[in-house]
Amino acid sequence: MKIDILTTFPWMIKPILESSILKIAAEKEIVSFDVIDIREYSKDKHKNTDDYPFGGGEGMIMAPQPLFDSIRGCVENNTEKIIFPTPDGVIFNQKKAKKLSDENHIIFICGHYKGIDQRVRDNFEIEEISIGDFVLTGGEIPALAMIDSIVRLVPGVINNIKSALNDSFSQPLLDCPWYTRPEIYEGKKVPKILLSGNHKKIDNWRKSQRENKTKILRPDLWKKYLKLKNK
Ligand code: ADE
Repeated sequence: MKIDILTTFPWMIKPILESSILKIAAEKEIVSFDVIDIREYSKDKHKNTDDYPFGGGEGMIMAPQPLFDSIRGCVENNTEKIIFPTPDGVIFNQKKAKKLSDENHIIFICGHYKGIDQRVRDNFEIEEISIGDFVLTGGEIPALAMIDSIVRLVPGVINNIKSALNDSFSQPLLDCPWYTRPEIYEGKKVPKILLSGNHKKIDNWRKSQRENKTKILRPDLWKKYLKLKNK
């Protein structure tokens, strides 16, 4: 898989790509990343990438020229999936991450300021995705959040794929509590059942923990789970 990230803040992206699972994915040559500075494509004499909005209003708009040219610079054969992280997009979730983990080439366009010129959104076949109903300053953090969740699902990236498949949301259930050594920390004990060696009982305990947590914290997921369970 190839992932291109178009940004005016390349230094925000690189440290994350060079950490943890994303670094491992690149080292294993399962995924290759390219961080492209949109500014380098600007034909403006000051290398500006934004301008004032027509019709007035607060904030700056990312201009079409550097975006058109930098997107075209990434496209190789028109099979690329182009994603624009934006709060007015469709909400991202685990199902979407799984689907995107099958792509060969994804291009993320990170917008900033007030937004990007609408003609960019109209001209390319772009999927507009939000990571939640809140507004961030730019698309870099949402792009990285999506990239992390996609890449960890690409076969070969995580050794224990079973663990990734059991994550919260892979099924409509939140995850259970997990513990590691020591058995007692500041007087607080690990649940006895986890020390019992009885794997069937441990599995049942974990499942009931997941169910209880989901029922209390996410009634929307709980409803979905009950529907699936009773099918
Ligand atoms: N850009 C700014 N806020 C965002 C959000 N919530 N999701 C995706 N992209 C964004």
